[in-house]
Amino acid sequence: MITSGEMLESRLDSRQEEGRLRSLRTNENLIDFCSNDYLGFARDIESGEDKDFATLGSTGSRLISGNSGYIEELERFIAEYHDSEAGLIFNSGYDANLGLFSAVPQRGDTVLYDEFCHASIRDGLRLGTCKSYSFPHNDLVALEAHLSKDNGQIYVAVESVYSMDGSFADLVELSALADKYKAKLIVDEAHATGLFGAKGEGRVVELNLQDRIYARMHTFGKALGRHGAIVLGDKNLRNYLINFARPFIYTTALPKSALIGVKRAYDKLSNVNYIELKLCKIQRLFKNKIEGIKAFEIIESFTPIQSVICGSNQRAKFMSNELENEGIDVRPILSPTVKKGTERLRICLHEFNTEEEVLRLVNCLKTMK
Ligand SMILES: Cc1ncc(COP(=O)(O)O)c(C=O)c1O
Repeated sequence: MITSGEMLESRLDSRQEEGRLRSLRTNENLIDFCSNDYLGFARDIESGEDKDFATLGSTGSRLISGNSGYIEELERFIAEYHDSEAGLIFNSGYDANLGLFSAVPQRGDTVLYDEFCHASIRDGLRLGTCKSYSFPHNDLVALEAHLSKDNGQIYVAVESVYSMDGSFADLVELSALADKYKAKLIVDEAHATGLFGAKGEGRVVELNLQDRIYARMHTFGKALGRHGAIVLGDKNLRNYLINFARPFIYTTALPKSALIGVKRAYDKLSNVNYIELKLCKIQRLFKNKIEGIKAFEIIESFTPIQSVICGSNQRAKFMSNELENEGIDVRPILSPTVKKGTERLRICLHEFNTEEEVLRLVNCLKTMK
């Protein structure tokens, strides 16, 4: 009989053979073209700004000893920042989506989600009791076909900026469709937080749609350079999540040090001069240069996430390793995380990347065409 140890080994071996074995690697001394620290806020730690508070635990879950005036005040502050009635902080964006999607849609309800939605949304749906269907990426005709035939309360889940492609959801059209069919729109703003809107409030506020969206999820782990997340919605939704969202109820709350870090990141965000953001220039430079290399298929994106299609796990890994040898950190995104044939290098551009670094990256890619 096969032992459980052998079973784990054999599953790992199959992954290895299929060229999709995941392994951890460190990135000291490499040029960062892979983190989600778009604005460089996570580097505050290095410059000493955040060193001055102790890392003490919160001592319990929010419903026992882990709650505080500080976290509730922070929730009100962040909700107001994004022009929302209320907000509830979770320990991560993953937890927030897990809680929201497993608890809110009820048996008999339906969630229609874009096929490119993040694993945390899918996992939340798997934990819950509602029906769920994906629709092809950004295909609003296919979405409408579903909307017109499903019954019960329908929710539509999208990301304002898709994490692997950097593409936008058409939030204006989506909210019109949601209104037409009395569906509730839920928007994951993970990769829009800090990057869009006059103060980095996200795409929903940038497009002035906040009153038409049922719930939004902002993580603090991307452009804010911190950790944790918030679900925004009305007070009723907040109270409901406190009572029914298991990833909120059954876990130790974030420590105060993390919350202070989040507050500082928001204070810093409100002072970002979006008109003079260097990131926009870096983005334009990268797009200009890479589009000149005809051999590469680039996914159209107007965000710092720029993906170069490699076509197979092997090729994506090879290209990432070649870049690493040149001191450049770009990670391969493999199938099945993305569809077979669309395996890619996911290049993240940052405020702190220099023009020389971008040129070096593009020149290295050129040698691999
Ligand atoms: C679209 C999206 N939603 C949610 C998450 C999870 O957020 P967090 O990293 O804060 O857990 C991520 C992170 O990869 C993401 O890309």
